[in-house]
Amino acid sequence: MEAILAHYADEIEFTSPFVPKLAGIESGTLVGKSALRDYFRQGLEAYPDLRFELMQVLVGVRSVTLLYRSVNNLDAAEVLTLNNLARIVRAEVHYSPSNRAGEASLPNAFNEWNRGEYFLSDDSAKGDLDAICALLRSTYWADDRSREVIEKSLQHSICLHLVHRGRQVGLIRGVTDHATFTWVCDVIVDPAHRGRGLGKWLVESFLAHPQLQTINQHLCTKDAHRLYEEFGFQRIEAMRRSSRPMPFLLKPPTSGE
Ligand SMILES: CC(C)(COP(=O)(O)OP(=O)(O)OC[C@H]1O[C@@H](n2cnc3c(N)ncnc32)[C@H](O)[C@@H]1OP(=O)(O)O)[C@@H](O)C(=O)NCCC(=O)NCCS
Repeated sequence: MEAILAHYADEIEFTSPFVPKLAGIESGTLVGKSALRDYFRQGLEAYPDLRFELMQVLVGVRSVTLLYRSVNNLDAAEVLTLNNLARIVRAEVHYSPSNRAGEASLPNAFNEWNRGEYFLSDDSAKGDLDAICALLRSTYWADDRSREVIEKSLQHSICLHLVHRGRQVGLIRGVTDHATFTWVCDVIVDPAHRGRGLGKWLVESFLAHPQLQTINQHLCTKDAHRLYEEFGFQRIEAMRRSSRPMPFLLKPPTSGE
């Protein structure tokens, strides 16, 4: 690992379509050697038989481009910009969308899970705003939430969209700082699809999502405690300030309080 990293400058900026998938960084760019070390380690764990076959080296003024065959036999072109010490300061990795045999393709940047006729995706293009508004309108916590507020909330969250035969039938939404906390909200499954383990699948996949690996996960619920307790959530005392009163979430004060 250190021999590989010796070719890179400390301020390396490394951009690859594999970065969102392996490191969970949506922009696709890693900055700094220690982030690169973690990324290479994850790459070697994900592809233990990793082997590159160099095809050609193209030489520029302050850069070189390596053409090689990469994971899953995908063709790759890596444009490497060098500093005065011939260390790589910038790497831009490009892949053919599929390999020559057409049997493997670049991992997409989205996280998706499949179960029978259902799939879950964090690709916002898979979300259907009309369906989400309809789902939330039936809830006790968002029945009066406007379409504009819902749309804005989705844009600033990580959402898993539950889709069945092309129709959105569920949602789980997370708000996070990517380090210390994730707030879990808008967990809902269409009534026609309940009782099939989809709610648990939503929570399980959400907790496994690479961009939601934070120290804490928080949520508020009126009556679904058991669903979350199964995944390690515990009841704690919390405080809340809101422009929307939710009396059912308030504990009546006990004597002495
Ligand atoms: C909660 C909800 C998402 C569960 O979806 P689902 O697909 O029916 O869930 P599953 O089939 O995976 O089962 C959920 C498990 O949680 C349990 N559970 C606990 N509290 C529950 C509640 N208030 N509602 C539904 N299930 C609840 C179920 O009994 C079940 O456990 P079991 O299999 O041991 O019986 C769904 O009922 C729903 O959309 N409810 C309305 C919205 C809501 O209340 N969301 C939660 C807000 S915090």
